[in-house]
Amino acid sequence: MASVSGAASRALLLPALLPALLPARALAQQRFDVPYVPTRQLVVDEMLRLAGVDGSDFLIDLGSGDGRIVVTAAREFGIRGIGFDIDPQRVAEARANARAARVQDLAEFRQENIFTADFSRATVVTMYLLTAVNLRLRPKLLADLKPGTRVVSHDFHMDDWEPDRRLVVGKTLYLWVIPARVEGRWRVDAGDRAFDLALRQHFQKLEGSAAVGRRTARLWDGRLEGARIGFTLTYGPGGDDTRLENDDGERAHRFDGRVEGDTIAGLVTVGIGRSRRQMPFRAVRA
Ligand SMILES: C[S@@+](CC[C@H](N)C(=O)[O-])C[C@H]1O[C@@H](n2cnc3c(N)ncnc32)[C@H](O)[C@@H]1O
Repeated sequence: MASVSGAASRALLLPALLPALLPARALAQQRFDVPYVPTRQLVVDEMLRLAGVDGSDFLIDLGSGDGRIVVTAAREFGIRGIGFDIDPQRVAEARANARAARVQDLAEFRQENIFTADFSRATVVTMYLLTAVNLRLRPKLLADLKPGTRVVSHDFHMDDWEPDRRLVVGKTLYLWVIPARVEGRWRVDAGDRAFDLALRQHFQKLEGSAAVGRRTARLWDGRLEGARIGFTLTYGPGGDDTRLENDDGERAHRFDGRVEGDTIAGLVTVGIGRSRRQMPFRAVRA
C-alpha cells in the first residue's frame, strides 16, 4: 500500500477539520449567496422613487439586510412590506429597526431563502444582490410576479433582459416592469379587418407578423409595459394589394391595448393629424 506523506495526509484531513477551524459565523456565511453590504440611504430613496412607489404598493426586499428599504417604504409611504434574509442576525436587526421607526405593524422580516420564499404578492421588488444571483432569480421573478410589478436592482443588471429604465445616482439603478406573456398566435378583430397575428416575445420586446388578406404585414415597435401592449402593423385598405412600389394606401396601424389573460383589448390608430382616426380592436388567443 502506498504511504501518505505528513503534508498530504494533513491536506486530506482538512475538509473534515474545517468546521472546527472556522468560526461558526464564517461557516454560516458560506450558505449566503451575497455578503451583507447596506445600501446608502440616498440610494434607498432613489430606488423607491425609480419604482414609483405609492400608497397602494406592497414592497418585498430580497436579501433585506438591516431592513432599511422596507422600513423606509413603510415610514415614508405607509405601505406594507416584507424583507427576506437568510441571516438570523440581519433579521433581528431589521425587526429592531422597524420597532425603532414605529413601523413594526407594516414592515415584516422573515428568515427565508430568496430562492424558495413566496414573493408573488409584491407590487414592487427591490434587490441588492449580484448579477449572477439576479440571473438565477430571473425565471422565478418572471413566473411568480404579476404583470406590471416593478423590480428595482441596485448596481446589478439582468444580462439580456434590458431594463425599462436605468438611473445613475453615483450607483447605477435598474428598473424592470414584469411583462404580460403574449408569445403565440392571436386572432385580431380590428373593426374593418380581421386577421391572424403571430407574436414572438423577448421579455418586454415583441416581434412578429400578421396575415392581412394575402399580404404579410410587418410588425414594428412592439413593446410591453406590464399588461400594456403596443405595436404597429403596416397594411393597406385592401390588405392584399401587391403594388408595393406605389402608394397603394398602405398605412401604419398603431395598436395600443391591455392584456387580460387570453384577450387583448384596446384602440387602433390610423393616420396622422386631420386624417387620424381610432377604432376599437380585440384579440383572442388562437
Ligand atoms: C448586499 S446585502 C443588501 C441588504 C439590503 N437589501 C440593502 O440594500 O441594504 C444582501 C443581503 O442578502 C442576504 N442574502 C444572501 N443570500 C441570501 C439568500 N439566499 N436568501 C436570503 N437572503 C440572502 C445577505 O444576508 C445580505 O443581508
